[in-house]
Amino acid sequence: MPLPGSSPWRYNAGMEPHDPPPGVASAPSPRIWDAQRLANPHIPPDKSARVCAMFSAIAPTYDLNNHLHSLWLDGAWRRKAAAIAQIRPTDTVADIACGTGDLALAFSAAGARRVIGIDFCHAMICGAKAKSFRQLARAPVAYSDGDATRLPLADQSVDVVSIAFGIRNVDQWRLAIKEFFRVLKPGGRLIILEFATPRNAVVHWLFNIYFRRIMPATASFISGDRTGAYHYLPASVDTFATPESLAAEMTDTGFTAVTRRSLTFGICICYRGVRRG
Ligand SMILES: C[S@@+](CC[C@H](N)C(=O)[O-])C[C@H]1O[C@@H](n2cnc3c(N)ncnc32)[C@H](O)[C@@H]1O
Repeated sequence: MPLPGSSPWRYNAGMEPHDPPPGVASAPSPRIWDAQRLANPHIPPDKSARVCAMFSAIAPTYDLNNHLHSLWLDGAWRRKAAAIAQIRPTDTVADIACGTGDLALAFSAAGARRVIGIDFCHAMICGAKAKSFRQLARAPVAYSDGDATRLPLADQSVDVVSIAFGIRNVDQWRLAIKEFFRVLKPGGRLIILEFATPRNAVVHWLFNIYFRRIMPATASFISGDRTGAYHYLPASVDTFATPESLAAEMTDTGFTAVTRRSLTFGICICYRGVRRG
């Protein structure tokens, strides 16, 4: 299956939102994530195409589900990530896997000079553009289609690279971390926001019920989703790199002063690293 971005194909260009992508087209149902693939959704060789098709299908209701199912905490997590980045008025920020643009807008509100949002799912970028226009962002955000592992950015050209709830979705995420290092200026900051599993036993138990049983059902209902997107979400968190190995990968790539800030009982972690000079 061709990777999104490597061919002229775009999931949402003239297709119904629930149409399966090429290569999944012969599947008997539009379900992109079946039980077998959900066992470890990072393994399929066509993960990128599946992820892109899934986000194309849920793009129209993505924000509603995000806000509702995080009890509106997602906005606070993104504002915290922008604060941890310590934005300066001269900063250029590249928000990768920007989706519908909420983190890009948080960087704009935090005072960045220039914000670039990049995502390989065109339907999500369309949502981001419409929102940016409505909200009259302080610094306008320039959105562009692009793959996290092959960024359309020059070496050492940005002060901050961010990725919120995106690194887990990127096939070859280690390659993406190297790509973030390449485009950051020496001294530039990498900010990663990602779900984690709470360590406290009681919170873990409650979160488990909510995240693995209630949320997949209610979010799928709200979005009318048949791709399995909201079953993929907990499955992809469970099978992704541990916080320790994600932080270690940042260090191995050449980031220094790597820190992890746990947010809301450890449901979410904000990672920060500084590109070595
Ligand atoms: C869960 S959404 C997060 C969107 C946004 N950052 C937010 O905070 O709401 C994940 C996004 O990652 C994007 N994505 C996944 N793999 C990608 C890749 N290789 N390159 C660019 N974007 C990617 C998807 O298209 C999707 O928009």
